[in-house]
Amino acid sequence: MNHLNHVAIIMDGNGRWGLKYKKSRNEGHKAGLKSLEEIINETIKKNIKYLTLYAFSTENWKRPKKEINYLFNLLENFLQNKIEDLNKKNIKLKIIGVKNFSSKLNNLLISCERKTNKNNKLQINLALNYGSKYELINAFKKLRKINKSINEKNFQKCLQTANIPDPDILIRTGNTQRLSNFLLWQLAYSEIFFIKKLWPDFNIRDYNNIIRKFKSIKRNFGNV
Ligand code: FPP
Repeated sequence: MNHLNHVAIIMDGNGRWGLKYKKSRNEGHKAGLKSLEEIINETIKKNIKYLTLYAFSTENWKRPKKEINYLFNLLENFLQNKIEDLNKKNIKLKIIGVKNFSSKLNNLLISCERKTNKNNKLQINLALNYGSKYELINAFKKLRKINKSINEKNFQKCLQTANIPDPDILIRTGNTQRLSNFLLWQLAYSEIFFIKKLWPDFNIRDYNNIIRKFKSIKRNFGNV
């Protein structure tokens, strides 16, 4: 049986869910946050060590300003209200992506990372203003700057996910089968689960079904 150490999720379908049930995309994001909290708790229960979440991509800036503001307010409130709780649960929060938000949000993100830095039950990597192509280009630049030889090990150390094992599983909800510039290097050998349900409808049962399936997959990593 495969050991499950790292789950990555593209939480897609909030907007469509909101329009379908509440006539507003933003209501979908609010509902998506609720799903997320349930999945975090289940991840702890299952003793999984890393959870990487695509919350906002470098391409998401193309969305209407009102939606962007709503998303970042949601994030700010979530962190302000829940960071103590996350800390008590022994969760470490790490942001991947470029922190170029308002100074208020940047400071909040940094302080949450500092506060939870020593925790070791579960590490949540929150991808915010994250784009894999940008990350890869930066990694090449870093490698060139430190003048180290070009190999997988040195390259991995230059990624924002340095020292984080690659995801075993990628889950994408929302009935869309693409990677959307997420962890292109790190997902090389991940098992990918594309789920039809929209993210706010994704529940613990769905999550456990995926975990069960993953455990019984024969992972070859190029071998036979
Ligand atoms: C994708 O759905 C979802 C996002 C771009 C945001 C993800 C955010 C959450 C799950 C909620 C809050 C999380 C934090 C960290 C505050 P979409 O809007 O692209 O859905 P669509 O494909 O139906 O348009």
